[in-house]
Amino acid sequence: MLNGPLLLLGAVFLLSSAALFISRNERRDIILGWLHLKRRRHSGSRTPPLSLSPEKKKSQSISAPDYSTTFPSSRRSILAETELPSTLAEAVTASHSDWTKRMLPMKASYLEATDCTYTPCEFSIAEIKALGDFPDYATLSGVPLPKPYHDFDIKKAFPRPYRPFRWAYHQTMSLTKMEPDWWLELENTYEKRMKQRANLLTERGDAVLQALEGSELACKELMEMALQFLCARYPQYFSLNASKMVFHNDILKTETDLRETPPLHVIFQNIPEDFAIMLRNEKTGYYVFRAGIICSALGWNVGTKIGLHLHEIHAPIPDYKEKMQFSMDRYFAKKPTDKPIQRGSWGLEVDQPLFMPPGDSHENYRGYQMPDLELSRCHLRVDWQTLRRLPLSGAVVFNFKALFTPVKEFRDEPYVPGLILKVLNEGKKELMEYKNAWHTEHVVKPALEAFHAEQVAKGIVKGDWEPQTLDESPWFPRWEAKWHRQQGF
Ligand SMILES: *[C@@H]1O[C@H](CO)[C@@H](O)[C@H](O)[C@H]1NC(C)=O
Repeated sequence: MLNGPLLLLGAVFLLSSAALFISRNERRDIILGWLHLKRRRHSGSRTPPLSLSPEKKKSQSISAPDYSTTFPSSRRSILAETELPSTLAEAVTASHSDWTKRMLPMKASYLEATDCTYTPCEFSIAEIKALGDFPDYATLSGVPLPKPYHDFDIKKAFPRPYRPFRWAYHQTMSLTKMEPDWWLELENTYEKRMKQRANLLTERGDAVLQALEGSELACKELMEMALQFLCARYPQYFSLNASKMVFHNDILKTETDLRETPPLHVIFQNIPEDFAIMLRNEKTGYYVFRAGIICSALGWNVGTKIGLHLHEIHAPIPDYKEKMQFSMDRYFAKKPTDKPIQRGSWGLEVDQPLFMPPGDSHENYRGYQMPDLELSRCHLRVDWQTLRRLPLSGAVVFNFKALFTPVKEFRDEPYVPGLILKVLNEGKKELMEYKNAWHTEHVVKPALEAFHAEQVAKGIVKGDWEPQTLDESPWFPRWEAKWHRQQGF
């Protein structure tokens, strides 16, 4: 039971991204289809889907689109702006018209490839080697480095209070451009999370971290981009000695030897976030999960999904093939490097379940409404997600962090209690089941009703306010004041 809905979380994320690139009608079909699939699943209804005619269904299942000659738009022309050896700079401007025929195979390491082999982003291995370690990824990717956050104090920092609640639910896609300053967001749980994750790796090994052959370039690239981000964003805590190839972490008081440590482990030892790296299959143009760190997913992990194509990852989801696969695969095939995206998905939880492999005992909490459940144990869990393409390898990286907020916090957040209530009360039943909210509702709903009534009584919210997605979404009015007050900076 758990697996399907939770996987859908990922699918919906991708679906919303895909929606940027499809027509309104297609989008409606997909949304209807998605609602339908949930409805059918739970009711056992025998009614055929409303949104797909038999002909359409037939044609979709027969012809999977061919993406073998579809490539993301290349940013290779930007090489002219970087410092390359002059001989190479000449080669760069020379003809390479048949580059698509010399594609680096998905399972091949760039370290063993010949110089005139190309990545899906049209960079040759010679160019990539000439760029060396820690090239200027901001220029290469078109995504600027973050601004330094000098006031930041890791001991006091709270994550921004993400409240990604929407009503009417399907009126808008909750997808926005990624904010370059906030790709990786540290906060006061940093040290605790790092310890939890280290224990998890010791206990679970391959289930939470793996890098398959062929992912060498993508892993190195992601690691270098992530360290560049940390050094630029939090210069008080992180520095890189590029000549010694040592990374300094002044929060943990550690040094990471970049020559000795595999790239995913460098990330793992410094960043408490999850990453899934998808590589392009050079024969089909479809994307495959080839490397990643997953320590905070509910119902799946690296071990259960590594090596699978996008559609195989989502195979347990009913109707995924008919309704979503097309848009999703096309979105991945074309996703531009300079247009990363972000979004939040949410659920309500008892305590703070962070990592829940299939069969975990925490699943039991979801099956019933604990009579003596206290409000203080009820939390909002937001998975704040980003999706971006790496400029050189062309890998697509899905990244997220899980953030917990006690439900009690909503009391002084204008409109938030009323808005969640609306979603809990009137959201599609199926959607709410997938949110796993039910097991907390008997405690959370009365609390939210009281908070909302109090906000109306105080004049913070007008009595006749119709709950709807807030202009400040995914935040709420005056959120920054509360956030700064909580942190003390
Ligand atoms: C890097 O390490 C070398 C050798 O210890 C040292 O001489 C140099 O000053 C260091 N560079 C930075 C930027 O700290």
